[in-house]
Amino acid sequence: MGPVPELDARAAACARRLREADAVLLASHIDADGLTSAAIASTGLARAGITHEVCFKKQLDDAEIADLAAREFGTVLFTDFGSGQLDAIAAHEDAGDFEPVIADHHQPAEATTESHLNPLLEGIDGASELSGAGATYVLARALAAADDGESESDNRDLAALAVVGAVGDMQAVDGKLVGANRAIVEEGAEAGVLKEGTDLALYGKQTRPLPKLLEYASEVRIPGITNDEQGAVSFLQDLPVELQASGDWRRWVDLSDEEKRTVASALLQRAITRGVPANKAERLVGTTYTLTREQPGTELRDASEFSTLLNATARYERADVGLAVCLGDREAAFDRARRLLANHRRNLSEGLETVKRAGVEREEYVQWFDAGEEIRETIVGIVAGMALGVDGVDPDRPILAFARKNDEETKVSSRGTGRLVGQGLDLSAVMGEASRAVGGDGGGHDIAAGATIPAGEEESFVAEADALVAEQLEG
Ligand code: C5P
Ligand code: C5P
Ligand code: ZN
Repeated sequence: MGPVPELDARAAACARRLREADAVLLASHIDADGLTSAAIASTGLARAGITHEVCFKKQLDDAEIADLAAREFGTVLFTDFGSGQLDAIAAHEDAGDFEPVIADHHQPAEATTESHLNPLLEGIDGASELSGAGATYVLARALAAADDGESESDNRDLAALAVVGAVGDMQAVDGKLVGANRAIVEEGAEAGVLKEGTDLALYGKQTRPLPKLLEYASEVRIPGITNDEQGAVSFLQDLPVELQASGDWRRWVDLSDEEKRTVASALLQRAITRGVPANKAERLVGTTYTLTREQPGTELRDASEFSTLLNATARYERADVGLAVCLGDREAAFDRARRLLANHRRNLSEGLETVKRAGVEREEYVQWFDAGEEIRETIVGIVAGMALGVDGVDPDRPILAFARKNDEETKVSSRGTGRLVGQGLDLSAVMGEASRAVGGDGGGHDIAAGATIPAGEEESFVAEADALVAEQLEG
C-alpha cells in the first residue's frame, strides 16, 4: 500500500502505463511545486529504467499541449498541471497523439482519462491536503512498488522534495501540513530525510543574521522590532545570548537549543507587552520541516526557504537551475540559484511596495490592483497573497491582481483566505467563469487561482468576478 491508500488504484494504473512506455516526455509547472514534482518524477522514472526528457511550461493551454504532442513521445507525463486541461489532453489521446499520464492537484476539467492521479477525484482537498509534488510522490512510490528488481530504492527518500512542494504551495494550515501530506511527512521521517519540529516560525532561520531574521519577519508584526533594524538589534542585545561569532552575526541555526528558547520566549513576551493579541503572538512558534540530509545553514535545510529558492529560479525562466538543485547539484546550479534568490527577494519587496503605494480598488465583494508592467506576471500571484497582510488592504476580502503578459494578454492572479473558502468562496470557479466570459481561460484552487484574459477586458472581468463572488458568498 502506498502513503495515500485512496489513491493506490490510480497510482498503480499510472505506474503501469509508464512502465509500458518506450519513452516519456515529462512536462511540469514552473513553480516550487512543479519543480519538485518534476524532480520526483524524473528520479522515479530513472530508477525504474524509463527513458524520459523533462520540460517546463508556464501554463498549459491548447497551443502548449499541441507543442508537446508534436514532440512525438508515445507517452506524456503531466505533473502539477494537466487536470485543468483534461478536455484538451483527452482530445489528443483520442486522436492517438500520445498516451497521457497525469499527477496533479488542480480542479479537473470535464473529461476523463485512464491514468489520472488527482486527490480531488477521491475527496481529498487539492489545496491543503496534497500538492502536485505529493501526487507525484504517490506515483513514484507506486513505480517502485511495481519494480521487478531493477532498482533498490522504494523512493521514500523523495518525500523531502514532496514536502518542499507542499510548503511552497502554501498548503500548511496554521503552519502545519495536514491530511495526505502528513503521511508523506511520516514516510520522510522513517526514511531519515525529514524531521518535523516545533520552532520559531519565521522565514530565514537557516540563512539570515539574527537581527535581520527579526527585522524582516512579517508573519507576526511586533512593534519596535518588525521593520526596525535598530529595535531588533537592541532587543537582542538585552538578552543573555552571544550575538556574534568571529565578528559576524550568528544565525538562528547557530544557536544552542537553550539560546533558542531564551530568544523565542523573550520575543513572545515582547510581542504580548507591545499589544500583539495572544492568539497572534502564538503564531511566532510553529511547525517546521527540516531536510536532515542537507547542510545546516543553507536554504536547502528548511522546506520553506528551499521552496522560495526554487520559485526564484523557475519563475525567471531558469527552471533548469532549480531542477538541477532538486536533483542534487550543490555547486554551479546551487550558486546560480542563490543569486537568483537575491533578485527574487528584491522583486517581491518592490512589488509589495508598488501595491502599498498605489493601493487597491474596492468593489462590493472583491478588491483588486493592476500592476501593469511593474510586477512580473509570474510572481504577481505571490505578491497578491502577501498584499493581504499589508495596511490599506482588507485582509478578509478576495484579492485580484492584473499584470501585463504581452500586447494582447493580461495575467490575472487571485487569492482568498481559509475563512472565505469556508463561506463558499471558490476562486477556481470564479477565475474560470469570469475569464471565459471575456474570452480568456483560467482555473486553479478554491483559495488561489489564475487566468489569462485579452488585454482591455480587465474592467469587465472585475465586474464578472465580483458578481460570481457575490453569488458564492451570499448564495
Ligand atoms: O499551480 P500551483 O497549484 O502549484 O500553485 C499554487 C499557488 O496557490 C501557489 O502560488 C500558492 O502560493 C497558492 N496557494 C495559496 N494558499 C493556499 C494554497 C495555495 O496562496 N492555501
Ligand atoms: O499564477 P498564480 O500563482 O496566480 O496561480 C494560482 C493557481 O491558479 C495555480 O495553481 C495555477 O496553476 C492556477 N492557474 C490556472 N490557470 C491559469 C492561471 C493559474 O489553473 N490560467
Ligand atoms: Zn501545485
